[in-house]
Amino acid sequence: MDKKILIAPSTDPVKTVHEIIDYAESIKHNADFLHCDIMDGSFVENRTYSYTTLGLINEKTLLPLDVHLMISNPSKYIDKFLQAGANILTVHYEAYKNKKKLIKDLEHIRESGTLSGLSIKPKTPVSEILSYLSYTDVVLVMSVEPGKSGQQFIEDTYQKVVQLNKIKTDYNVDFKIEVDGGVNPNISAKLKKYGVDILVSGSYIYKSDDRLVAISNLR
Ligand code: DX5
Ligand code: ZN
Repeated sequence: MDKKILIAPSTDPVKTVHEIIDYAESIKHNADFLHCDIMDGSFVENRTYSYTTLGLINEKTLLPLDVHLMISNPSKYIDKFLQAGANILTVHYEAYKNKKKLIKDLEHIRESGTLSGLSIKPKTPVSEILSYLSYTDVVLVMSVEPGKSGQQFIEDTYQKVVQLNKIKTDYNVDFKIEVDGGVNPNISAKLKKYGVDILVSGSYIYKSDDRLVAISNLR
């Protein structure tokens, strides 16, 4: 039987908080998560919203929140995002100079009952995060440069998914593999073959006339 993959439509293409809440409502019968892109204008050029807005979104939707922190100083804000209702809380590997702090933060996220996520940019090899995988529930592989939706999928991502699956077997560690950026139904079919668990999609779903069908097309 085909493995079931989970779909996490992203908030990045959506402009205002009210539109995000309406968007969550329009996809809730087929989406598995709402992928919340948090950008601070420093780690990436764009800026989106912070924990207060996330808390408001959380109050208005039943969808679990998959929170992707594209911010420079994640340690400082982790508790705020946990309190705001993140179900998966993902930090960027590249945002940490002090890798001991990264381990502490991943452990802290788990202890709070939230799933810990670790993301890598397209230029960061999988081999760099080997030591952190036992602290990680979800590895978020960026298939575009973080910062905006609507970019083209980077083909190297397939290989990263293969490598991560091999690591799971070879080292007997368990985590979910999530891919974010430029995903459409052709790409999702390939990613599924390579063993992806969770797919993020921004513009493909948002721009579709029928979003529920668009989500099914990615499964
Ligand atoms: C990119 C964001 C993505 C983005 C994906 O920085 O992390 O979540 O919204 O959008 P698409 O699917 O349009 O690339
Ligand atoms: Zn994202």
